[in-house]
Amino acid sequence: MKVRTLRRRPAWPALNKHHKEIAKLTLRHLFDQDPQRGERLAVEAAGVYLDYSKNRVTDETLRLLLQLAEQSGLRENIDAMFRGDKINVSEKRSVLHVALRAPRDATILHDGQNVVPEVHAVLDRMAGFAVRVRSGTWLGHTGKPIRNVINIGIGGSDLGPVMAYEALRHYSRRDMNFRFVSNVDGTDFTEAVHGLDPAETLFIVSSKTFTTLETMTNAHTARDWLLAGFGGEQAATARHFVAVSTNAQEVAKFGIDTANMFGFWDWVGGRYSMDSAIGLSTMIAVGPESFRAMLGGFHEMDEHFRTAPFARNLPVLMGLLAVWYNDFFGAQTVAVLPYEQYLKRFPAYLQQLTMESNGKHVTRDGRRVDYDTGPIYWGEPGTNGQHSFYQLIHQGTRLIPCDFIAFARTLNPLGRHHDTLMSNVFAQTEALAFGKTEDQVKAEGTPDGLVPHRLFDGNRPSNTLLLDQLTPAALGKLVALYEHSVFTQGTIWQIDSFDQWGVELGKALAQNIIPELEAPSEPTLSHDSSTNALIRRYRKMKGAG
Ligand code: F6P
Repeated sequence: MKVRTLRRRPAWPALNKHHKEIAKLTLRHLFDQDPQRGERLAVEAAGVYLDYSKNRVTDETLRLLLQLAEQSGLRENIDAMFRGDKINVSEKRSVLHVALRAPRDATILHDGQNVVPEVHAVLDRMAGFAVRVRSGTWLGHTGKPIRNVINIGIGGSDLGPVMAYEALRHYSRRDMNFRFVSNVDGTDFTEAVHGLDPAETLFIVSSKTFTTLETMTNAHTARDWLLAGFGGEQAATARHFVAVSTNAQEVAKFGIDTANMFGFWDWVGGRYSMDSAIGLSTMIAVGPESFRAMLGGFHEMDEHFRTAPFARNLPVLMGLLAVWYNDFFGAQTVAVLPYEQYLKRFPAYLQQLTMESNGKHVTRDGRRVDYDTGPIYWGEPGTNGQHSFYQLIHQGTRLIPCDFIAFARTLNPLGRHHDTLMSNVFAQTEALAFGKTEDQVKAEGTPDGLVPHRLFDGNRPSNTLLLDQLTPAALGKLVALYEHSVFTQGTIWQIDSFDQWGVELGKALAQNIIPELEAPSEPTLSHDSSTNALIRRYRKMKGAG
C-alpha cells in the first residue's frame, strides 16, 4: 500500500476540521448525553481493561482516528515488523523484539532464518546460569556463593533491568542483593558496592555494543574493585564477571570468557531488550519460571496487537489517543501514573521507550516533518504525585493527558490501604474529567473571593488501565502495550521509531572534551566562548595546571 504523507491522508484534514467542531465539548456533556459511555468506551484484552471513556473524543473522533491508522498503513507495518522486514530503515535492521517472547514452536524469520530456536537456546542458558547462582552452586573465586548481583549498563541495558527488578521485587530472592550501576558519575558505582564483599559479588556487564563509555568505564572500575579485594589476582575475575552483549569480540577484549557471555541480536533495540539476555539480572532475581511467565505476558499482548481489529486493539487505541492530543490539541506531554509502588521506575523506563523511539524530526525517507512527533512522557507513582504536581494537571493552563495504571488486588494486603489507594485512582480521574463548577463551589458556602481559586474546569482527559494483580505476566503485558502504542504513533508520524541518532552528537563532543579536561597544561580551546570558559573554570576549580 502506498502511504501518503501525513497531511495528505484524507483522515488528517478531516480530523483537523472535526477537532475545531468538538474542541469545546466537555466530558460532562459527553457523559450526560450517553449514560453508557463509561462501559461503551472500554475494551478488555489479555487481562488488561482499558477505560478510555474519559477522553475528549466522540464516536466520530474514533472513526476518523481509526481511518487515519488504516490510511497510515498501520496494518501493513505491523505485518512487516512481525515478518522481520527491515523497518528500522536508517540502520537497515529488522525489529524483532516480538521474537524474544515467541513460544518455542513459533517461527519468526530473519533473513530467511527462524530465530526462535536461537532465542530459546539463550533463554535456556540463562536459566541454567540463574539456577546455579540462585542455588549457590555457582561459586565465587574463594568458594563462596554469590549473594550480590550488580548489573552494569545504561539506557536500555539498565532501565529495563532496574524497572523489572523493582516491579517484581515481591517475587525476588530476598536473601540476595540486586544493585544497578549506570551513571558514569563515580558515586553510582561507589554506592552500589558499598558494604559488599567482592568474594560474594557477581557483575553482569550488560551492553549491546560493549563500547558504551559509561558502561565500559564502570566495568573497568568494577574489575579494579574486585581485584583489589583479591590482592590483584587476575584469575579472580572469571567467577565474578559475566557479559550480556551482541559483541563477542569486545567482550573477549575486556577479558570476559565468551563462555560466560549471553548473546542477543542486532534486531533487538536497546530499549526493547529487557526480555532478552539483558534481563539476566531479572531472571536471577525472580527465577526462570517467573521470567518465562513475564515473556508469556509480553506474547499475549503481541498477539492481541497483531490480530485484534483496530477498534478493539488496546495499543492501537492508546497510540491513536496520544496522536490526537499531541497533534490536534497541542498537548506536549503525557503523564503516566502507576498506582502501584512496585512500578515506581516504570515512568523512567517508559521515558526511554517512548522518547528515544519517537523523538524524531524527519520521516523515514528523511523529509523534515511539519507536525509534532513524540510527546514528553513523565510521571510518578500515585498517590505521591497527588501531593506534588497534580495541582498543575488539575488547575494549570496546560492540557496533560494521563494514563492511570492500577491493580485490583495488591501484593501486600494491609488493612484499608488498598481500598484507600484505589479510591484515589477513581477520584482523580473523576475530578480531572468533571471538575467542580462555580455553582458547586458556591453551594459549599465558599466566600466569593475564593470561588475562582476553588474552581476545577475539568475536561482533563485520562485513560485508566486496570489489571488484576502485578504478576510477572502482567508486567510483560504492560510493557508490550506501551511498546506497541509507541509503534502505532511512530507509524502514523511515518518516523523510524527504532534508531537513536540524536544521542550521537553529545557522545562525540564529550570524547573531544575529555583530553582537554585532563591535559597537564592549559589546552588550546576552540569551542564557543561559553564552553571554553566553562572548561577553563572547571580546570581551575579542580586545580589543573
Ligand atoms: O543512549 C543511546 C543508547 O544507544 C541506547 O539506545 C542504549 O539503550 C544505550 O545507549 C546503551 O547501549 P549499549 O547497550 O550498547 O551499551
